[in-house]
Amino acid sequence: MKGILLCGGSGTRLHPLTKVTNKHLLPVYDRPMVYYPLQTLVQAGIEEIMLVTGGNHAGEFLRLLGTGAEFGLKKPLSYAYQEEALGIAHALSLAEDFAGESPVCVILGDNILGSSIADAVAEFTADPRGAMVFLKEVDNPSEYGIATLKDGEIIEIVEKPRKPKSYLAVIGVYLYEPAVFEVVKTLEPSARGELEITDVSNHYLRQGKLKYKLYEGYWGDAGESISALLAVSNEVAGWGRREI
Ligand code: G1P
Repeated sequence: MKGILLCGGSGTRLHPLTKVTNKHLLPVYDRPMVYYPLQTLVQAGIEEIMLVTGGNHAGEFLRLLGTGAEFGLKKPLSYAYQEEALGIAHALSLAEDFAGESPVCVILGDNILGSSIADAVAEFTADPRGAMVFLKEVDNPSEYGIATLKDGEIIEIVEKPRKPKSYLAVIGVYLYEPAVFEVVKTLEPSARGELEITDVSNHYLRQGKLKYKLYEGYWGDAGESISALLAVSNEVAGWGRREI
């Protein structure tokens, strides 16, 4: 399993904080935001990781993270540059050569997870077909990709629904088979002109190849709003001593 850490986008929901830096470099309590998802990947046993970013601050990720050795990565961290903010699925497509024949764990650089995903990663690695997503109940479903369940199966995922049919958000961690890059090539831009990760999930759903887990630990999307950034920082402040 290889890891893909997505740190693109323009971060408009966090203006003015993101006017002069990349959202994923902002502090979450005492660490830059990107540290947390990177550690989630490393802790899950993923040793080869590519970070995809864009905009005017790409070089700062290199200065901050370098080879990733500090995080325990044995192979140097790889980097890709997204020239335009064309969406999460587009950012993913830039990692095609890096991934090769390997299944991938994609994580959004603003997603902060309180518990390990190692078990799910190991389970998917043992049978890397289709895709796996993680669901978590939220109280503001219009801000996320929202899944509707029927008889224990996902029947639909809608990106930021105006009239949500459930409170189950698809969190920003996705496990994919190696053929996901072929799926991304079939996508059309959404109304906001982006290739949506939700469309990748819906592709697998239509094929009957979308697995899911209810994520039990703490989950926060620190990029969702200024108040989410504060709430996630307050949560992390209570986590106690960490090694990096
Ligand atoms: C993205 C996805 C959304 C998902 C969310 C989780 O939204 O498009 O489906 O629920 O991440 O953080 P974004 O926050 O990038 O708008």
